[in-house]
Amino acid sequence: MNIFEKCESNVRSYCRNFPDIFHRAKGSMIYSDSGKEYIDFFAGAGALNYGHNHDYIKQKVMSYLDADGIAHALDMYTSAKEKFLAKFDEVALSSTLDYRIQFCGPTGTNAVEAALKLARKVKQRAGIFSFMGAYHGMTLGSLAISGNIGIRAGAIGTSSNVTFMPYPYGFMETFDTIEYIETVLNDVNSGIEKPAAIIFETVQAEGGVVVAPIDWMLRLRKLCDEHDILLICDDIQVGCGRIGSFFSFERADIVPDMVVLSKSISGYGFPMSLLLIKPELDIWEPGEHNGTFRGNQLAFIGATAALEYRESSNLEQDVKTKELFLKNFLSQEIAPISEKIAIRGIGMIWGIDVKNFGGNTFARSITSRCFELGLIVELAGRNDTVIKILPPLVIDMSTLQRGCSIIKAAFHDSLAV
Ligand SMILES: Cc1ncc(COP(=O)(O)O)c(C=O)c1O
Repeated sequence: MNIFEKCESNVRSYCRNFPDIFHRAKGSMIYSDSGKEYIDFFAGAGALNYGHNHDYIKQKVMSYLDADGIAHALDMYTSAKEKFLAKFDEVALSSTLDYRIQFCGPTGTNAVEAALKLARKVKQRAGIFSFMGAYHGMTLGSLAISGNIGIRAGAIGTSSNVTFMPYPYGFMETFDTIEYIETVLNDVNSGIEKPAAIIFETVQAEGGVVVAPIDWMLRLRKLCDEHDILLICDDIQVGCGRIGSFFSFERADIVPDMVVLSKSISGYGFPMSLLLIKPELDIWEPGEHNGTFRGNQLAFIGATAALEYRESSNLEQDVKTKELFLKNFLSQEIAPISEKIAIRGIGMIWGIDVKNFGGNTFARSITSRCFELGLIVELAGRNDTVIKILPPLVIDMSTLQRGCSIIKAAFHDSLAV
């Protein structure tokens, strides 16, 4: 580890929780130099819905490289981009989901920044409403709309024009949060001006796997319509099939005005982020939001192949089957371990909330023990007290079961200490 400690910035993070050197990965497995193999329940923080080095996608990427396909082209027209746009239009969009696609690059937060900038330009208002518990990225605009005060510490003074509204979580599950927003907007003495947009996640993943109710999302959409506010859905972590349907908001049958996508969209872990914009809102001037890395050609190839794979496989049904398995396993084998445990989730994102054990020592002891036993799984939520289960969607059932058994063993081992 010495070279990393000697040379790499103190800001490095995941490597601290998974202290091994990795060199190869396939499907849902990662292999380290020390000869250990790990089941991956983290999936590159959601960037690997199709697993590591998916055969079909890999073959398309290899052929492209082999043919000296253009690797970098700024945002010029390329045949790789042409094929991606045609496939995305065919598979993900429809007459109801009619969006223009803006390539932002290269990572999720870049698309969030573009969404905020465009929303403010369209509505000529500075304000943004976000939600408590939200996570939208680490650049200054995205950080300003993220709820975790700890990670905002280094971004002093950047949160002006952002108001955090309560998300249906904890005691606020029984409090009418939409009515609260409505009251704030209607009250001329609320002190909070009408925002350009409200940005939300259908499942707050980093927030601790908190699933928004369908009715809440329907009312949020209605509220935005009634108050002339844009609705932006951040589908970076739970889009691309994570909960079954391609977009996570399809569950509520709503159409956001803008959608941000990244992580698994490129299919192979390549950097790619998209902002989807309702056509009438696409008022950018040419080049007004620019950037060098907005068209990673390998990402286009990977993303097209991933959509082709999605079309030819039964991924949505597969997610439903695994959702049922995870739900049963967690409620029947993990929840009964202690009444302090709470379980939440949908599709293939699940959280085991252990905040009632106090602090995050217990949560960290579980994920550390999992790592020792050969499972990579991360924490999320307030003070990192939620064990977040995020396997590749394509994981086979026996590996999924093995990973779950490790979690169960880690609970018993940690409680025995
Ligand atoms: C919902 C959500 N939005 C935005 C981001 C930021 O994406 P990136 O880390 O690629 O900038 C993340 C990353 O975890 C996320 O989960």
